[in-house]
Amino acid sequence: MSERIRRAVYPKKGGPGSIRIVEGEIGPLAANHIRIDVHYAGINFADLMMRIGIYGAAPPFPFTPGYEVSGTITEIGKDVRNRSVGDRVVAMTRYGGYATMVDVHPNQSFILGPKQSLESAAAMPVTYATAHHMLVHLGGIREGDTVLVHHAAGGVGTAVSQIAAAKGAALIIGTSSASKKKFVESMGMHHITRGDDFVAQCRELTDGRGVDHALDPVGGKHLLRSYKALAKGGKLYTFGGSSAVPGKRPNILAALWMWWRLPRFDPLRMMNSNKAVFGVHLGTWDKDEIMREQMKELVKMQNDGLINPVVDCVFPLIEVAKAHTYMHDRKNRGKILLDCRD
Ligand SMILES: NC(=O)c1ccc[n+]([C@@H]2O[C@H](COP(=O)([O-])OP(=O)(O)OC[C@H]3O[C@@H](n4cnc5c(N)ncnc54)[C@H](OP(=O)(O)O)[C@@H]3O)[C@@H](O)[C@H]2O)c1
Repeated sequence: MSERIRRAVYPKKGGPGSIRIVEGEIGPLAANHIRIDVHYAGINFADLMMRIGIYGAAPPFPFTPGYEVSGTITEIGKDVRNRSVGDRVVAMTRYGGYATMVDVHPNQSFILGPKQSLESAAAMPVTYATAHHMLVHLGGIREGDTVLVHHAAGGVGTAVSQIAAAKGAALIIGTSSASKKKFVESMGMHHITRGDDFVAQCRELTDGRGVDHALDPVGGKHLLRSYKALAKGGKLYTFGGSSAVPGKRPNILAALWMWWRLPRFDPLRMMNSNKAVFGVHLGTWDKDEIMREQMKELVKMQNDGLINPVVDCVFPLIEVAKAHTYMHDRKNRGKILLDCRD
């Protein structure tokens, strides 16, 4: 049976105004998939980068973005045994989430506990899985560790603060725009204003040692500064290139400039200081079993009240351009969602 669907489409690279809302039909459900009536879809910084055409792992234009949704199952394929119509789920979509409905394999979905709202569930998958992947899976964070995270007030930043706190971190330092100082502090982080000398301040705050974990989504030469903020034995996670996005529209020069200024790390120096540098990209991470375990732990942590995704605001699907502009303008504190209900 085919049904009506409304979705946001990137027809080609461009500014937020280039996004189109398209109505059409969704074909019959595959035998091994489930159909989700999408309530909320999460917006990620990567969606902006895809729209302006500088995100390597994006599908070809035209396409519907959206890595994550929450909603209710309305139909199950005839081979699906472990899901039922009416189940409330959160799902990782790897595109297609900005829509009123989406089909996924049941392994990409997670049944929500009774205490989890659909709104906070949609705010979790990408940002918390990224944070968990860095701090827990790669970093083996231990009680008493110290953590530095940039863009601390955003989706990943707030997820890092909650997961690090849940794992017993002694100190979490977050950088952000000055206007978000109070918010960052309310998340239990020590705030440093973007642009200030965070290397010196990290040393001062750790009695000269440096931090155990530095999480850098900025890229370019900023990455080397994050490396310098590390203690001996510390770990740097490089997981983004926000400095390649100076505005709302495509700017290939900014992307090249960011790439040109990336540091080339010296393995001998790394060896002598026992430092590690991890490259992290969830979009191409294909160890599905590990990811499922991570997501299960996160859903449980949310259900147990150990983490609680922060939702800044919710835009209706048809106002997706406004939602993107809000993130471009660095206004978000926590996550931005789309309300995709008809
Ligand atoms: N590798 C991965 O698997 C992975 C997964 C998820 C996210 N990421 C990366 O992690 C970072 C955060 O992602 P998110 O989705 O949680 O976004 P976000 O932090 O919620 O939102 C963007 C925030 O980033 C800061 N920012 C820095 N440069 C910016 C720019 N050029 N334009 C607009 N805002 C800018 C702004 O905060 P301040 O000005 O306050 O700092 C803004 O509020 C992004 O770089 C993203 O690409 C990577």
